[in-house]
Amino acid sequence: MKEAKFLKITYLLAFGFLLLSCNEEQQRIRQSFNEDWKFSKGETGTESQLSFDDSGWRKLDLPHDWAIEGPFDSNFDTRVGGLPTYGTAWYRKTFKIDAAQKGNSVSIEFDGVMNNAEVYLNGKKVGERPFGYIGFEVDLTPYIKFGEENVVAVRVDPKELSARWYPGAGIYRNTWLEIKNPVHIAHWGTYITTPEINQQKAKVSIETTLQNKHNLKGKFSLQTILVDATGNEVASGKKNIEFKGGNSLVLQELNILSPVFWEMDNPHLYTAKSILYKGASIIDNYESTFGVRTIEYTQENGFQLNGEQVRFQGVCMHHDLGPLGAAVNYRGTQRQLEIMKSMGVNAIRTSHNPPSPEQLEICDKMGILVQVEAFDEWTIAKVENGYIKFWDKWHETDLRDMIKRDRNHPSVIMWSIGNEVPEQRKSKGGEIAQYLTDICHDEDPTRPVTAGFNDYPQCVENGLAEAIDLVGLNYKPTQYDNILKNNPDYIVYGSETSSCVSSRGVYHLPVENYDRHESLQLTSYDIISPPWAYPPDFEIYAQETMTHSLGEFIWTGFDYLGEPTPFNGRDNETHGKWGVDYPSRSSYFGAVDLAGLPKDRYYFYQSRWTEEPMVHILPHWNWKDSKHKTIPVYCYTNGDEAELFLNGKSLGRKKMGEDKTTIPAEFIWWKKPQTTWDSPYRLNWNVKYQPGELKVVAYKNGKVHAEKIINTAGEAAKIELVADRKEIAADGSDLSFITVSITDARGILCPNADNLVNFEVEGGGEIEAVGNGNAATTESFQAHHRKAFSGKCVLIVKSKKGEAGEINIIAKSKGLATKDIVIKSLDSLVE
Ligand code: GAL
Repeated sequence: MKEAKFLKITYLLAFGFLLLSCNEEQQRIRQSFNEDWKFSKGETGTESQLSFDDSGWRKLDLPHDWAIEGPFDSNFDTRVGGLPTYGTAWYRKTFKIDAAQKGNSVSIEFDGVMNNAEVYLNGKKVGERPFGYIGFEVDLTPYIKFGEENVVAVRVDPKELSARWYPGAGIYRNTWLEIKNPVHIAHWGTYITTPEINQQKAKVSIETTLQNKHNLKGKFSLQTILVDATGNEVASGKKNIEFKGGNSLVLQELNILSPVFWEMDNPHLYTAKSILYKGASIIDNYESTFGVRTIEYTQENGFQLNGEQVRFQGVCMHHDLGPLGAAVNYRGTQRQLEIMKSMGVNAIRTSHNPPSPEQLEICDKMGILVQVEAFDEWTIAKVENGYIKFWDKWHETDLRDMIKRDRNHPSVIMWSIGNEVPEQRKSKGGEIAQYLTDICHDEDPTRPVTAGFNDYPQCVENGLAEAIDLVGLNYKPTQYDNILKNNPDYIVYGSETSSCVSSRGVYHLPVENYDRHESLQLTSYDIISPPWAYPPDFEIYAQETMTHSLGEFIWTGFDYLGEPTPFNGRDNETHGKWGVDYPSRSSYFGAVDLAGLPKDRYYFYQSRWTEEPMVHILPHWNWKDSKHKTIPVYCYTNGDEAELFLNGKSLGRKKMGEDKTTIPAEFIWWKKPQTTWDSPYRLNWNVKYQPGELKVVAYKNGKVHAEKIINTAGEAAKIELVADRKEIAADGSDLSFITVSITDARGILCPNADNLVNFEVEGGGEIEAVGNGNAATTESFQAHHRKAFSGKCVLIVKSKKGEAGEINIIAKSKGLATKDIVIKSLDSLVE
């Protein structure tokens, strides 16, 4: 336990002022438990034993998702990504705990294991957790051998048909080892609320659960110090506790004077440092982050943060990180959220499960609001091996744990108990919903409870909608008014909207609505939605014209692995298991593709959700070989007018809102089938094609607001590499995302290029993954090469731990000039 000792010393130094009197007692040691695991698929039955020989197993560090390693196979369900997401596998790790720690509590915290995890220590079962999305703590104390070798073995057993999207497989979130005094602050043991807030003062209430493993009796005291974001103490209080055996709940109230509020553009975070004393000795210390902010929901003023109305410009997000799979990565998560924020997003819905702790930490820091969702299923199956298998035994624990884990996050503004549960159509639905809502209120009375419904009016008739606080409607933009007319007390919002599908950079002419396209790509004119859904314009229109909605969460911000609607497998008999739709294996719903490259829809939302001047036109301008001589050009802008120029000649100026664009859109509007809709949110010119320069100038209040130029590209000649970060931390997990573009000799993007690019990475980094946003390819995400898709692909480079220095990245492609860039990996990174 060399590392643990080191950590202890650093921690004790940090608390140096208290050391003289207290260092003979155990303080908390918390350290990453991610390194040096052994892994093997399959099982023989003896893997849990200490004596088991794992010398032939693969060595790896966590987090790990074996399914993303592939390979893709036409026998795997493309609705979960066409990857091996199921099967039994084992992870083992050998470790020692210093003999001097004898008498202390030792535990491992798993942030999430996918799934059906069973945990063994030295051959004895010490824990289990079937639900893959929730964290859990396993107490190792009863079987740990201090001063000797121990082996922790984790069996995972994800099943086929267990999800409607890609779940990942393995210990895919972080793990932590904790050594604590037997009397300590419990796992997720603080609950911090701010019951009274004004400019002068925030009253902070802190409930701390103390765990007393040995049922000790005696005098203890708990000190809580509140510090602001710069580390300055702003309040402190100490409370004496008389232990009579058993656990104890300690309530403290502290005041922060002139508090700094957690605002979306200034997300100030406070930290509560909890210090537990036995006599004069510190025996435990624990830190919790929180914010000072008020939230309120009314029909009149919608959602209010600190008294100001905020409309949800939200996105639903699945948990995977595209080419990185489900394995948690801080930078991968942060990048997703940065891209979303630049689109104008202010809220996310963690569809349809509890997110990673990192995602919430980043949302706290970035000022992004979060709806944390618990379930996609209750008692009625959507997939054969879904959550119904765990419901009876686990739903209460899973739900309570989710709230205990996440309730200090200022970014979390509501709890969702479920998405489109089939109980909407069953008489018991209301009863179950009420029971789950009560659990949420019991754990956290400060936030409302919601659910996403797609069956209206059934969800109202059976009492489900009545049982929750905020009524989330999936794909019901035509029904908001009706619902409110019949239920005037409801507070409603779009929990899922649009579900438009498209492939980045792919344009099919003529612009027409279709169910599917044999290329397995979908046009990026942003008009195709499945039958239950709507083009983005129509959902925005419903939100903007209906004052009583809290806003919307579009389906989805990013493409995700699995659910390749509309290519969900058909023609089974003639074309094998996944039919003519293979290898379509990831979603087309994102405003951003799987590699993190914006589609046109990203700009559509930016034009409605942001103020920073922008204008965007589509499609590309390489139509020489097309049989279509007239090309529809669409423009998205947050200006109020735009003018299009082809080779310097004006093609006319159009006014946003007045010059509507008739889009082909098949949807049911007030029960009348619509085949077109006049969108006030896009401008359209039908342009007689001539190669050259297509330029758009947007105006606002008559003044130039933004410009964009698209040029016709010549033959592919060069590779362009752009790193999102040129300096990364040498910590073995930080990433640089390098966008690779195929250009002509002048540097103009070749919009249809699909050249194969080979990568070499040398020095302080290595290739972590590659991607290109093509939803219908079986190229490996872990290869050292990738084909461009619509002219682009992405290389993801990871730093090597402790190997600070230059990382040289070289990209080669047959017939194109080789390109290289250098990024730096640094021992300490100042962001
Ligand atoms: C919804 C569902 C989502 C996703 C979406 C696709 O009905 O809640 O999980 O499947 O449809 O449009």
